[in-house]
Amino acid sequence: MYQSIFRPGLFRGRCIVLTGGGSGIGRCTAHELAALGARVLLVGRDAGKLDAVCAEIAAAGGLAHGYSCNIREEGAVRALVAQLVAAHGPLHGLVNNAGGQFPAPLREISQKGWEAVLQTNLTGGFLMARECLEQSMAMHGGAIVNIVADMYGSMPGMGHSGAARAGMVSFTETAAFEWAQYGVRVNAVAPGYIASSGMDQYPPAMRETIRAFPRTVPLHRFGTESEVAAAICFLLSEAAAFITGSTLRVDGGRPNVRPGMPMPALRTDGGATAPFNGFHLAATPRVLEGD
Ligand code: ADE
Repeated sequence: MYQSIFRPGLFRGRCIVLTGGGSGIGRCTAHELAALGARVLLVGRDAGKLDAVCAEIAAAGGLAHGYSCNIREEGAVRALVAQLVAAHGPLHGLVNNAGGQFPAPLREISQKGWEAVLQTNLTGGFLMARECLEQSMAMHGGAIVNIVADMYGSMPGMGHSGAARAGMVSFTETAAFEWAQYGVRVNAVAPGYIASSGMDQYPPAMRETIRAFPRTVPLHRFGTESEVAAAICFLLSEAAAFITGSTLRVDGGRPNVRPGMPMPALRTDGGATAPFNGFHLAATPRVLEGD
């Protein structure tokens, strides 16, 4: 079973929509939400991956349903949310986690590539949030968490993703203001270097760069998927009732590093920084195996 730090039954009776739940941080978060009693509605493009995660969650005693949808398409998102509301009633939470990008310097990004990344990481999240608001949350309230990325100092080598993620932070802040009147909170979580299956999506030429990431992090390690999932669960929970428009960084302090300032060594026992891993199915990404 998932070893959550949150109280059992925290999300009992809650319906929470999560995009991109087929792998990585999304899959881990789906498991934690279900372990805390939520009915999790997984949305993604690959029905096979969603079915596999639903089966894992059912095996752990949780409740999850998979829905395949391309979140870039307005009509498809509208129809999907109508289907979710008809089948499950009010939607209490939305985790906008689906994303994707490819490494490329700006000079090599075509308009098609740029727009594809913007559509997945920015437009899709907007469409999902707007439809959940229109079709359920404007009437019943709700909590939305947008998953972005450590784009502080921007994203050399993945400029389309940096632009999309920064846009999503701005969207989060605008929606927090405009939707507060409906009892809807909107926040974001910005994960840094996380040891998740997403690390295996990059080309083999990036292997050594990826393995060296912890040297640029004051806490000297990768984060775990569960450390991100816990931040998401907190923002969805009633304990975050006065938090809206915030972006919660989960990055070991990476954006606080100053070029030219030597990186201090971490005490050998790690102090209060030892990794938290509550996910019973967590696996080391292949790129980090042997570390
Ligand atoms: N995950 C990544 N891209 C997606 C998309 N366009 N629709 C749904 N889930 C996705």
